[in-house]
Amino acid sequence: MGNNRDVQAAWDYHEGTRHSFQSVHSSRHFLDFENQPLPFKIYPGLKPIPLPRGMEPPGVPALEALSASVVEPEGERLPDLKFLARLLHYSAGITKRIRSPHGEMLFRAASCTGALYHIDLYLVCGDLPDLEAGVYHFGVHDFTLRRLRRGDFRGELVRATADESAVALAPVILISSSTFWRNSWKYQARAYRHCFWDSGTILANLLAIAAAHRVPARVVCGFVDNWVNRLLGLEPQREVALVLAALGGNSSIGHAPEVRQLVLETTPLSRSEVDYPAIRAMHEASSLTEEAEVAAWRGAAAVAPLAPPSGRLFPLRSLSEEEAPQDSIEEVILRRGSSRRFARESVSLEQLSTALRSIGGIAADFTQSGDRLLNDAYIIVNDVEGLPCGSYVYHPDESALELLREGEFRDEAGDLGLEQALPADASANVFFLTDLAPILERFGNRGYRLAQLEAAINGGRLYLASYALGLGATGLTFYDDDVTDFFSPHGEGKSAMFMVALGHPFRRRPG
Ligand SMILES: Cc1cc2nc3c(=O)[nH]c(=O)nc-3n(C[C@H](O)[C@H](O)[C@H](O)COP(=O)(O)O)c2cc1C
Repeated sequence: MGNNRDVQAAWDYHEGTRHSFQSVHSSRHFLDFENQPLPFKIYPGLKPIPLPRGMEPPGVPALEALSASVVEPEGERLPDLKFLARLLHYSAGITKRIRSPHGEMLFRAASCTGALYHIDLYLVCGDLPDLEAGVYHFGVHDFTLRRLRRGDFRGELVRATADESAVALAPVILISSSTFWRNSWKYQARAYRHCFWDSGTILANLLAIAAAHRVPARVVCGFVDNWVNRLLGLEPQREVALVLAALGGNSSIGHAPEVRQLVLETTPLSRSEVDYPAIRAMHEASSLTEEAEVAAWRGAAAVAPLAPPSGRLFPLRSLSEEEAPQDSIEEVILRRGSSRRFARESVSLEQLSTALRSIGGIAADFTQSGDRLLNDAYIIVNDVEGLPCGSYVYHPDESALELLREGEFRDEAGDLGLEQALPADASANVFFLTDLAPILERFGNRGYRLAQLEAAINGGRLYLASYALGLGATGLTFYDDDVTDFFSPHGEGKSAMFMVALGHPFRRRPG
């Protein structure tokens, strides 16, 4: 057995990587652009298999796809190459090219801290109508797959997940990984949090696209880490598997062939790489080492209910049918991009309500349908028609916002978001806060991964809902303890996991 149960490791990592005014302003870290890592993993020796392009939108409105994505969709559709191409493109593909003085900047379907794109996606599948069974890597730079192994290796994932029920029936299993250096180059040891933040925004897109196509999708976080790393040929000191997504159902899976060691050349990322031992230590401490440990680990958490509202309640409102945006999920993903500046304008309570309703459950091995989420949404309202300015907590069961403190908090919002103008100018800022202690008690150190991931998936959904509404949004980083203090006493003892600002993007007036 590993040391997943010794949860001091998660506390040490969390405390050791929190941002404070002091830590940020005294940091001597600088960005060495001469040594900036490549944002792509490239296997120069493997033959590319082009993915089909030409993807007509299926026409499912984004908000419908988002609300369908909070439960596991039913359906018997077998994912084929065309569907996988679409899923990969709208989750992690290149969707925007912007010329800059430093060359062309390539942006992707999901937001990513620092646009450093350290997350890769792999596929493990049985024989599909148009793709041979194998283990594949998604080449984002040239929109291709490259086969790392030939043969049906899904049985190895069934074993690694201790027969997880969705994995055991899945024709395709998708795996996200992070190459730490591609993010730690800028963010140092805090990059381990970003592994789950940046997998989460990808998964928000992926779950919505899967739901729009009625392909069952389940997120699986319990697995024997080293078996999955070995299957993908990862060097776990530098790159690790993070999250599995089982796609489709009704497949039968036999034993996998022997998993031989893979030695494949990849293009060097930069001149040299810096190792951050705190990242490796946290990953190792939250790793599961054998099937029995995975089987015992799986299941739902009993998260204490949110304290019943005791303050003034503001019920959420719905958009009228004419107001409900109809743009498809694909159109919204193509339009998404983090707002770089907000105009100080109001959004309506109907718009904020619609965005908040996109927050919801995740079909996953660490939760059951209808369970309470691991994170609570706390909000700073700067300018929302129909709501007094102030701080709030969202009660999903009551479909209402509870006013915690009335007041103008633009300056405080800016300060909490690392003194940036974005949260001060935004119409509203949503913070996901979690009570880590019972989650670590239930899931061990791996609970830390879950809390970050759940917040990030819901943060990604907030992004998409905001863009569906014709608004803008951006993820933000924050001063950890100041966020807790700001929302205390209600938020006392909780830890900030993820932050999203939303509002009207600033547009320069012509002339
Ligand atoms: C979790 C998270 C935190 C982020 N933090 C900041 C931030 O503090 N300041 C900022 O300007 N942008 C922030 N961003 C936005 C990223 O810089 C942006 O996603 C990236 O440049 C890619 O651009 P795009 O989202 O427009 O595709 C954040 C994004 C995420 C997902």
